[in-house]
Amino acid sequence: MSLKSVLILGGSGFIGSHLALKLSKNYKVFATYHSHNYSVPGTTYIPFSIDNKLWIKRILHIIQPDTIIYLLGSNHAGWVERKPRLAEHLHSIGPGNLVNSSEATQPRFIYISNPYVFDGVKGNYKENDILMPNSVMGRIKIEGENVVKSKFLNYVIIRSSPLFGRGNGIGRTFFDHLRMNLSTGQRFDASPNEVHSFGTVEGLAEMIHRIIDLGVRNKVLNYGGITKVSHFEFARRFAARFKLDPSLVVMKKPEAQSIYSKNLVLDYSLNSTPSVELLKIKPLLLEESFDLIHQNLIPSS
Ligand SMILES: NC(=O)c1ccc[n+]([C@@H]2O[C@H](COP(=O)([O-])OP(=O)(O)OC[C@H]3O[C@@H](n4cnc5c(N)ncnc54)[C@H](OP(=O)(O)O)[C@@H]3O)[C@@H](O)[C@H]2O)c1
Repeated sequence: MSLKSVLILGGSGFIGSHLALKLSKNYKVFATYHSHNYSVPGTTYIPFSIDNKLWIKRILHIIQPDTIIYLLGSNHAGWVERKPRLAEHLHSIGPGNLVNSSEATQPRFIYISNPYVFDGVKGNYKENDILMPNSVMGRIKIEGENVVKSKFLNYVIIRSSPLFGRGNGIGRTFFDHLRMNLSTGQRFDASPNEVHSFGTVEGLAEMIHRIIDLGVRNKVLNYGGITKVSHFEFARRFAARFKLDPSLVVMKKPEAQSIYSKNLVLDYSLNSTPSVELLKIKPLLLEESFDLIHQNLIPSS
């Protein structure tokens, strides 16, 4: 039997590079890069721009992927606020550019959304809670989700909590900065104003693997860990676990014009129970995730 083929759009990014590493053990994996040529053993990397419709058509015709995983665009709220047009282009218009070219083969389309689609008032959000964004990021992600739901016959939307794990050496993640600052005795500023159910990037890769294996279709699923903390508390716990100096973690003050300027705390944590039950993945406490990152090993169930 021939191996299933998977196309990772955004394969040179943080999630994409971890995913390529995970999936290339069981699938024929193709991954795209835009401005950073990248390589992962067992994965074929292809240059790609979401604007080049002719090239998209050609790639999809040649690869005929069973699954497309869409990972374009940055998850940094600040970047999205500064570049709303580009963000909209990558997060919500981009998936639509692929529709006609993939019509013939009808691959499963996996889109990665985030918790900013919710208002952050109550936390522990379930998949079918009311969507009420209070940021540009949240509005753009809802648009992206709607494009995917309305145009693809076979889709899965994963709303992922912020992820941590080793970066791929291209851009530094929150976690990379945290590790580097604390291990070199430098201060690290972290916000106390947002609470999240942070999850590991390897855990998300495992979840996607299961979705493909089990043939899940037309579902919205949450992903995150069990522990709910702010970035500040996350950094403190990291320092404690790795015997680094917690006093280097300093509370970041919100910008004057931000919604957090009046010491508001918003809880964007996600409830991942349906994903755990459906996919038999293991939800982890923050300290368990730190232990696994330490061992560089994430269990599959
Ligand atoms: N990271 C998280 O914690 C998290 C959590 C929830 C949801 N998500 C979502 O997951 C997705 C990926 O996140 P990430 O952290 O992996 O982002 P990332 O590291 O910034 O990667 C973004 C990817 O998009 C590619 N790209 C950028 N502009 C492009 C263009 N014009 N045409 C084609 N490709 C382009 C980049 O390629 P080059 O680098 O080669 O230019 C890179 O491969 C985002 O949609 C994000 O909102 C992420």
